[in-house]
Amino acid sequence: MTHADIERWNRKYADANPHAFVPDPLLVANAALLDGKGWALDLACGVGHNAIYLARRGYDVVAVDGSLTALRYCREAVAGTDLRVHPVVADLDRFVLPRGAFAVAIVFRFLDRSLIPAIKQSVAPGGLVIYQTFNVNKLRFAPEMQRKYLLEPGELKRLFGDFETIASNDAADIGEELSYWIGRRPAAPR
Ligand SMILES: C[S@@+](CC[C@H](N)C(=O)[O-])C[C@H]1O[C@@H](n2cnc3c(N)ncnc32)[C@H](O)[C@@H]1O
Repeated sequence: MTHADIERWNRKYADANPHAFVPDPLLVANAALLDGKGWALDLACGVGHNAIYLARRGYDVVAVDGSLTALRYCREAVAGTDLRVHPVVADLDRFVLPRGAFAVAIVFRFLDRSLIPAIKQSVAPGGLVIYQTFNVNKLRFAPEMQRKYLLEPGELKRLFGDFETIASNDAADIGEELSYWIGRRPAAPR
């Protein structure tokens, strides 16, 4: 993330009004998978609407983003509450994720393929991953977007091929502009 990237995101968030902190519908639809036990990670969390939802479910949440402006909204939202959200301002190009630390890791609307191995290792055996981001269909409405930030058909399933799939819309014939994949790291052998 260059300084210019950070400034661009900070400017974008300066005009944001996230006071409702509405969680992503995919997360809410899968609430039954979120038992609230242990630590959760929200990577590239933005203003933290999903991180706050995870904290409401009972998790201690590490919420990482490069934009201090975005994380200020998050910090203000949890101040004075008993929600355990721990905002971390960090450049994910350089951030080292702890191994086996999280019961849940979520990523929404962010793609850096080089981080996938570290994300996989950051969840404990049996831990849950929920990943949703834009796919190449987005180019129909936003042709200026760089393809490298968009998922190819079936890509999430391939990237998490060594995990157990719970749910996915990430098929080759997908018509939506968002793909998701939900699954678990296989439990450690006994
Ligand atoms: C489209 S927003 C998604 C935010 C949130 N996950 C959501 O769904 O609303 C992408 C986020 O990624 C963050 N980001 C992009 N590159 C990053 C990097 N290298 N390190 C840390 N954060 C980064 C931006 O600051 C921004 O908040």
